[in-house]
This record gives sequence, structure tokens and C-alpha cells, in this order.
Amino acid sequence: MTTIKAGVIGAGFIGVAHVEALRRLGSVEVVAVAGSSLASAQRKAQELHVPQAYGDWRQLVADPDVQVVHNCTPNYLHRQVNLATIAAGKHVVAEKPLGVSSQETAEMLQAARQAGVVHAVNFNYRMYPLVQEARARLAAGDLGPVRLVHGNYLQDWLLLDTDYNWRIDPAVGGPSRAMADIGSHWCDLAQFVSGLLISEVCADITTFLPRRRRPRRAAETFAGVGQRPADFDELPIASEDYGSILLGFQGGARGACVISQVSAGHKNHLTLEVDGATGSLAWNQEEPNTLWLGHRGAPNQVLPKDPALLHPQAKPYAHYPGGHGEAYPDGIANLFRNVYRFIQAGGDPRHDAADFPTFVDGHRAALVVEAIMRSAQERRWVGLGEKDAD
Ligand SMILES: NC(=O)c1ccc[n+]([C@@H]2O[C@H](COP(=O)([O-])OP(=O)(O)OC[C@H]3O[C@@H](n4cnc5c(N)ncnc54)[C@H](O)[C@@H]3O)[C@@H](O)[C@H]2O)c1
Repeated sequence: MTTIKAGVIGAGFIGVAHVEALRRLGSVEVVAVAGSSLASAQRKAQELHVPQAYGDWRQLVADPDVQVVHNCTPNYLHRQVNLATIAAGKHVVAEKPLGVSSQETAEMLQAARQAGVVHAVNFNYRMYPLVQEARARLAAGDLGPVRLVHGNYLQDWLLLDTDYNWRIDPAVGGPSRAMADIGSHWCDLAQFVSGLLISEVCADITTFLPRRRRPRRAAETFAGVGQRPADFDELPIASEDYGSILLGFQGGARGACVISQVSAGHKNHLTLEVDGATGSLAWNQEEPNTLWLGHRGAPNQVLPKDPALLHPQAKPYAHYPGGHGEAYPDGIANLFRNVYRFIQAGGDPRHDAADFPTFVDGHRAALVVEAIMRSAQERRWVGLGEKDAD
């Protein structure tokens, strides 16, 4: 089997996770990284032992050695980088949110389809063993028809007015912050696990901190803690800290979620519960190695992540025996394994079913986020056109 060569653009928090996950596959060589400057790219390349560093992402896209581009840049750059990669006839693994508007995501989806390249979006939470188990059980009808899909995605890293990140600036992060950043993950996961598409939303969003103090020295994600007050500029803030969303799903199921980046004590608290006519199940990203199974007429159960106990569809997502935890980095590696297996097999997303999230899912997430933002602004239910989400 030949090795596939990949390049990673933007080696910040998630870019480094991409490099590590790719190396675990064994069949992929990370040959280049690109950063916001040559100096930062060279520093990262040295740290990560990547042979080539570029200060301009266009050089990485044009590098004839690079066959697959991983786009880990801030959101406003996603469209430019993804379209340039597709135009170069290369496969693209994009970070979420795929774009900052559904216009952008539709354009990228269309371009990828026309070029016939493989396209993926890193909705990594789908790829945990017990998430796959939950989906398999629901698809098999083990819980009966789905009635309710509910949960939260809560973080606290933007709790204080001195917490700042590029996501807060709409020119860099896009018009939505909490919804596009983590709400998109929750909505994608809810649809993936339940097997049902969101058809309508009714949302309330709020910016609790209308002013924040931005550090004069930019920090990578989760790295801004501990700076002194004199080092800040005070700025007005437009992007939302939080949202509560009522959901309608195709087929009649209902749901709700709370999304927040200002909930003290919650680091990456993504929870999802699905209640069917004959049973319930619930999963928590911070305790990802157990799946709660709720029963009416029998004691509830807790299923451990033990390959010996998993549904055949979920088993390939667990790599270690029961009692040996698998979590965030493993989900990303599972996603990349599926993408690169598809590439190695000569798969074409226009004809072949992809076992990973694609630009179709990235576009759908953008439509959901836009519907949420419009619903909150107009204070009413907003439907998602079935045609648009296809
Ligand atoms: N799937 C997930 O779980 C997950 C988690 C975190 C972030 N993300 C997504 O990944 C993307 C990056 O987020 P992050 O948290 O890693 O941010 P980050 O700030 O930690 O890293 C971004 C990197 O991009 C680099 N960069 C900025 N401008 C650039 C340019 N012009 N050319 C090349 N590199 C450039 C920065 O120097 C930095 O190293 C975002 O779209 C975010 O939504 C996804």
C-alpha cells in the first residue's frame, strides 16, 4: 500500500491534533505545515518533526508532494483555502464550521462535487465508539421510534471579560460564535446519532459580555489565561456567548439543547440523550467510555466501552480492551482512518457512500446555524428548506 502525503495549514490547537492523528494511521506522511508566518510555521515544523514549513498557505496547496490538505485555520479562511485546494485537484479535510455562511458552504460543496475530490469535515464527536454504538442501536430500532433528542454543549473558557480568542471577532470567526463553534458540533451529533435531520428551530441567544478586554498579545485557543490587565484593549462584542434552542426533526421527533461558552466548571461538556418509545440512551463527551441505557420496566444500565460488548458497527471504533479509555484524540484518528481508507480505495463521494462527515454535513450544519441565528433575531420558529439541506 502506498503512503499518502498530507499537508496541514494552521498548526494551532486542532492542527497539532491533526498531525498526531494522521501519524497514528501509519499510511499517511505529514510532509508540510503552513502557518500565519514563516517563523511560526518553522517553529511548529521543528516541534512536530515535519520536513517542510510554509509562511503562505498557497505554497503548501501548490506543493506537488501534498496530496491531501488539512485546513485548520480560523473560520474566515476556510472558504479560500478549501476552494484553492479543490481547484488544485487535491482532497480536503476541513475543520468545522465549514464556512461562515451557507452561501460559502454551498459554494464549497458544489466545487468539491464538480472536481470529484474527496471532501471531509472534522465532526469528530461522531467517531467515538459509544457514539457509534448509540447510532447503531437507534438505527436497529432498539429504542423504538425516537421522540426526544436533547442535551447541552457547555464550556467555560470564555467566561471572563478578559477571555479573548479570534472566534469572538465576527471578521475572523464569522457572524455566529457559540452556535457556529460548538452548536454546530451538537446539532451534527444529534442528527447523526438519531438518524433524523433537524427541520425547524426556535432559538434564544444572548451576549452576556457586551464588552471584553482583548490581550495585546494574541493567544492560541485555550492559551490566553494569566495575562495582566495592562496588556488588554477594551472592545464591544457582538457574537453570542450562549443559546437555547428548541428543535423539530423530520418525522416528528422534538428536542432542545443549551449551548454556552460561559458556564463555569464545564470544560467541554457535550451531552446527548435520545428518548425513544421503548427506551432511552445518553452519552457525555467528558465520560466517553460509558453509555447510559434507560428502561421503564427494568433497572437502567451502563454499557462500558468494551469491544466485546459493542454492536458490530461500533466495534471498529474501539481499539483497546474494556477499561482502557478512548476519547478526543481517538475520535479524530477514527475519522481520518475512514477518510484515508476511502482515498486509498479510490472512492468518489459523488457515487460511493462515505463513512465520514463530508461537505454535505458541513453545509447542513451551516444551514442549521443560520436558521438558529435568524430565529433568535426574529423571535420565531424558522424552518429549514429540505431542498437547501440536500
Ligand atoms: N473539530 C474540533 O473538535 C475542533 C476543535 C478546535 C478547533 N476546531 C476548528 O479548527 C479551526 C482552528 O481552530 P483552533 O482552535 O485550532 O485555533 P488556533 O488559534 O489554536 O489555531 C489556528 C492556527 O491557524 C494559524 N493561522 C492563522 N492565520 C493563518 C494563515 N493565514 N495561514 C496559515 N495559518 C494561519 C494560526 O497561527 C494558528 O496556529 C477553527 O475553524 C475551529 O473551529 C475544531
